[in-house]
Amino acid sequence: MAKVILLNGSPKADGCTATALAEMISIFHEEGVDTELFHVGNKAVRGCISCGYCGKNGKCVFNDDLVNEVAAKFESADGLVVGSPVYYGSPNGTILSFLDRLFYSTSFSKQMKVGAAVVSCRRGGNTASFDVLNKYFTISSMPVASSTYWNQVHGFTAEDVRKDLEGLQSMRNLARNMSFMMKAFADAKEKYGLPIQEREAFTSFPDGK
Ligand SMILES: Cc1cc2nc3c(=O)[nH]c(=O)nc-3n(C[C@H](O)[C@H](O)[C@H](O)COP(=O)(O)O)c2cc1C
Repeated sequence: MAKVILLNGSPKADGCTATALAEMISIFHEEGVDTELFHVGNKAVRGCISCGYCGKNGKCVFNDDLVNEVAAKFESADGLVVGSPVYYGSPNGTILSFLDRLFYSTSFSKQMKVGAAVVSCRRGGNTASFDVLNKYFTISSMPVASSTYWNQVHGFTAEDVRKDLEGLQSMRNLARNMSFMMKAFADAKEKYGLPIQEREAFTSFPDGK
């Protein structure tokens, strides 16, 4: 059975982002996809300190929050949904600290795990936030699931989001498309194997140009 991890970056367990993710979860269950939701936004998640501990030890130096726990689940999952409220035109700080550490501290292959970003805002800053979140996937060989329109809901409260019928429709279609991709990739992996990945080159503009 395919499994997807969902992250709620909001400090609110039952707010707007949670409402969008719940809409997706109901479809994942209809589609026979296993889900596990982690509430990230109410934790004290500090940022990455670039200490290099993870490179030698395979996990983040800080064990004070969910990063290492989610990392273990992410390794065996087929997909990752990241939900965030928009704070000053960006994903909120907690989810960014979490994702920096989750992606930087894990060396397992994320190739063909499906990613989806979902944002919630009252008025604006949604597309910029959406871009930021999608980049974690696209630099990690993770195909990005899409929907029939923007992966976003609008509101200040969960009740507002429940009135955003098109937003919720986008969440349902996103979950359907993502379910299809995870199942199709599982079949494709059996049939073709994963594509070769070259890793040798690591250039940081050494000639200074
Ligand atoms: C610190 C802070 C900054 C915010 N900045 C924005 C913003 O730039 N644009 C916007 O439309 N809403 C902004 N909001 C409102 C939230 O993004 C919006 O209410 C969101 O749907 C809340 O989701 P949640 O209930 O899952 O936390 C901000 C809220 C907070 C607390």
